[in-house]
Amino acid sequence: MSKKIILDCDPGHDDAIALLLAYGNPDIDLLAVTTVAGNQTLEKVTRNALAIAEMAKITGIPFAAGSIRPLVRGIEVAPDIHGDSGLDGPVLPTPTLQLDERHAVSLIIDTIMSHPPKTVTLVPTGALTNIALAARLEPRIVERVKEVVLMGGGYHVGNWSAVAEFNIKIDPEAAHIVFNEKWPLTMVGLDLTHQALATPEVVNEIAAIGTDCSQFVVELLDFFGKMYKQAQNFDAPPVHDPCAVAYVIDPSVMTTQKVPVDIELTGSLTLGMTVADFRHPAPADCHTQVAVKLDHQKFWQLIVNSLKNIG
Ligand code: BDR
Ligand code: CA
Repeated sequence: MSKKIILDCDPGHDDAIALLLAYGNPDIDLLAVTTVAGNQTLEKVTRNALAIAEMAKITGIPFAAGSIRPLVRGIEVAPDIHGDSGLDGPVLPTPTLQLDERHAVSLIIDTIMSHPPKTVTLVPTGALTNIALAARLEPRIVERVKEVVLMGGGYHVGNWSAVAEFNIKIDPEAAHIVFNEKWPLTMVGLDLTHQALATPEVVNEIAAIGTDCSQFVVELLDFFGKMYKQAQNFDAPPVHDPCAVAYVIDPSVMTTQKVPVDIELTGSLTLGMTVADFRHPAPADCHTQVAVKLDHQKFWQLIVNSLKNIG
């Protein structure tokens, strides 16, 4: 049976690949794509989402724009990783797909409430602003979703501070809401995504597909790789966001561990840290788990297969 997901994203190079992975996989039913300010302004990431849709000829799926800024704090963007457009590298086609008229938060709520209970998985790959607002506006979604599988955080690693990851750090109050709701939540954090490296072998395999879409991804990875080398000294860029989608497609692509996770909101050095408590076996009612070890080969195969399917 296909897996119904809502992708809430801020494209973003790795968000773009997450979207293509989801769209091209026959086991995924992509119900909606929603955007949130993060890697760039809401206007830019929304335009990028529509440009990806144009490039991949995606039709029949609603796209909606969401929150223009975090719940409490000012907006922070990441041009050092994603460039001025948020998706620098390839030439972006002019979008023709019209945005859904609803706010992303309304589209998320409507989609979850109009599907049977426990059938829709939320896959956030940006700041958690829209998801937190949706949970506050319509609390019944917390019981109704199947699970939340998000890219964000890290139990041993940070990238936006010594201990905090970008998606969580830029809107820690939203993350606090999302991690403290009792829905099953999988944190696909940096500990895992730093294993999802786009090595030269991977990029060659994608290039060999030989389609416009694969060429688009190669150009994304080329830019992303250069920025990651410059900003964080990675020899090959970690492709974070598709890891969350890959877990929904095939949970055997990674190992996970149940552990309580909470969000630091007051630390002057640790704001936005995803604090995982490994001291004891997880309690029976623990609703959070973290991703630990990636099957690199299986992961990239899923991406290659999706790109081939998109054609
Ligand atoms: C996360 O931050 C963003 O820049 C990426 O798109 C990813 O979602 C990694 O820390
Ligand atoms: Ca992202």
